[in-house]
Order: sequence, then structure tokens, then C-alpha cells
Amino acid sequence: MGEPLLRLQNVTAGYGDAVVLNDVSLDIAESGALAVLGRNGVGKSTLMLTIMGFTQMRAGRVFWRGQDISRQPPHWRANNGIAWVAQEREIFPSLSVEENLTVAAQRGAWTLETIYQMFPRLSERKRNMGNQLSGGEQQMLAIARALMTNPSLLLLDEPFEGLAPVIVEELIRAVKQMLAGQKLAIVLVEQHTDVALELTANAIVLERGAVMHRAPSAELQKDTETLERYVGLRVAAEH
Ligand SMILES: Nc1ncnc2c1ncn2[C@@H]1O[C@H](COP(=O)(O)OP(=O)(O)OP(=O)(O)O)[C@@H](O)[C@H]1O
Ligand SMILES: [Mg+2]
Repeated sequence: MGEPLLRLQNVTAGYGDAVVLNDVSLDIAESGALAVLGRNGVGKSTLMLTIMGFTQMRAGRVFWRGQDISRQPPHWRANNGIAWVAQEREIFPSLSVEENLTVAAQRGAWTLETIYQMFPRLSERKRNMGNQLSGGEQQMLAIARALMTNPSLLLLDEPFEGLAPVIVEELIRAVKQMLAGQKLAIVLVEQHTDVALELTANAIVLERGAVMHRAPSAELQKDTETLERYVGLRVAAEH
């Protein structure tokens, strides 16, 4: 096995004086997806923000393709292949769909054409302004815009939250397509445990800012004790 794409080594990080992540270590390979599970407030989004370089690191290091990038600012990371779709799904409300897509585009396999193939809804609405889209369409646009930077690593923070089931289905299909295509790694924060574990090969479970459990997703799917303890049994409870 070669170098991992991304490595967090004993990372302790937070906001100002507040430490949120505690001694987190993880490796992300060049292809495939990692699920990040855990209850509200355990530090899932903070982990994403730390990978992007938005938090204060107290200890530990972050490596990208073997290079220590602990001190690289967010824009360096964005320019070098790490894309992030925030939990708040920020799009530019006063730009058109197409302008949102092209504003940060970088060269690669993802182009307007391939994006519109994946998200026909965005093609139909390419001249609409960002603020004229439904919540689901805004989420598609946020993901599509991240893909247009042709990243090596895509961070998705609760991409299915609060969306209609039909939209969630479309997004799940899109994520599967992304993973089946060219080399791409995805970190998926998701509270819908069943969906998260279905889409990913490996999973980690956070509890109070620390990694409490790691397992292949297929294994964790059957480990109701761990899921009940650290994630809540949403799977059984909701169906
Ligand atoms: N900007 C910030 N400044 C200070 N503390 C913060 C900030 N953002 C988050 N926190 C704190 O960090 C902790 C972890 O929050 P985080 O948003 O990472 O959790 P989460 O697992 O993503 O939760 P959720 O499931 O609700 O999205 C919480 O205690 C939260 O209050
Ligand atoms: Mg969060």
C-alpha cells in the first residue's frame, strides 16, 4: 500500500480556547468513501473544518499525499484538491446556476457537460438564480460546484439532511456514480446511518471529539450494540 491521500495524525483542534477534536488519527485512501458517524455535537463538522484548515490545531499533523499541510490555509487546500460541501450548503444566491458552477471550476473530468448529465435538474435550471432553487436543488448545486473544482477528496457534511426522499434518492445515485467513476475519495458525514453505511467502505464513530470506533461499514451495519451506543438506532427507529 502506498501513501494515503490524507492522513490525520493525533490531531487535537478546536475554536479559540475550545478544544473539540481530541487526538484524532485517520487515513483516507485515494478512492472510496469513509463514513463519519456520531450524535449531534460530537465534532463531525469540526473534523471537516479541520481537514479544510478552518480550525486551530493544538497538536498533531495533517498530511496530504505525504506532505505536511498542517499550516496550509484553506485556499491552498481547495486549490490542491480538497473540496468541501458545508452543512449549511452555501451557494451564491445572486449568481445563476451556471455561474455558480463555473466560478471556481478547475480543469479535469468534471465539466458543465458531465455535471449536467449527472444532475439534469441543474441543466434545466441553469439560467435560474441560486435563490430561486428548492432546498434539494441547492444541495445538488453545492455538490456539483464542489465537483467542478475536480477534487481528489470531497467532504460532504450531511448532504441529505432535511431533503425530500425523491431528492435524497437522486443524490444517493449521484454519489454512487461519483465513486464508480474516476479516482475520488469521499468523506461522508451522515446521520442516516443506513444510507451512510451503504455508500461507504469504512466508517468511524465519533464521541466527544474522539474516534470511539472504526470498522468496515458492512461490519458496523450489523453491530447494533455500537450503533445504539454511539449513534442511536435511527435505522430501526425510523422504518
Ligand atoms: N465556531 C465555533 N466556535 C466554538 N465552538 C464551536 C463552533 N462550532 C462548533 N462548536 C462546538 O464544537 C462542538 C462540536 O460541534 P460540531 O458542529 O463539530 O458537531 P457535529 O457533530 O457536526 O454536530 P451536528 O450533528 O449537530 O452537525 C460543539 O460543542 C459545538 O458547540
Ligand atoms: Mg455538523
